[in-house]
Amino acid sequence: MNKSEQLAELNTKMAHCSGCVLRSSCTQVVPGEGSAEAEIMFIGEGPGQKEDELGRPFVGAAGKFLDEMLGVIKLKRQDVYIANVVKCRPPQNRDPLPEEAEACWPWLLEQVRIIQPKLIVTLGRHSMERFLPGQKISQIHGRALRREVPGLGKQVFLALYHPAAALYNGSMRQTLIKDFRKIPKVLKAIETEKP
Ligand code: URA
Repeated sequence: MNKSEQLAELNTKMAHCSGCVLRSSCTQVVPGEGSAEAEIMFIGEGPGQKEDELGRPFVGAAGKFLDEMLGVIKLKRQDVYIANVVKCRPPQNRDPLPEEAEACWPWLLEQVRIIQPKLIVTLGRHSMERFLPGQKISQIHGRALRREVPGLGKQVFLALYHPAAALYNGSMRQTLIKDFRKIPKVLKAIETEKP
């Protein structure tokens, strides 16, 4: 099976998940979308109202901003893979509970294992916390970090602020755009570094 077939199979399994309470209140599971061959994987927090409605990640206001930033570095959604820590919308857009993120973790791990991205860009605190526990986003944003993740092995991460948090906050917005512009350089460094 190629990577996109593997992802399709995983998505089918995900659609039947009942690993936490979120599935009982959301409209549908939002697995993620993009290229199965992506070198970059963006990982947000969880679906919001629009995402829940359409079954696609980052399609609301934060998603528009993400698309804009991708454009700045000459990428399109189809070039990358976009997913979330939890695949079902938390009611009233509350933060996912630790047990919900934990229940959804095997799905995310499997997505990363299939895609094998060169770089994982975490969007926001919750996504950073899953991969880089104990870190402070204010201290590590925009810095590429290589970390060993149980179940994944060594992986390069770039933690960014969440587009929704930065949307209406001028200085955070500027910081996020500045950090986002580092992505091509980080990718190049990964590609050219010796094994
Ligand atoms: N915010 C997220 O973290 N993920 C989405 O899919 C949409 C908004």
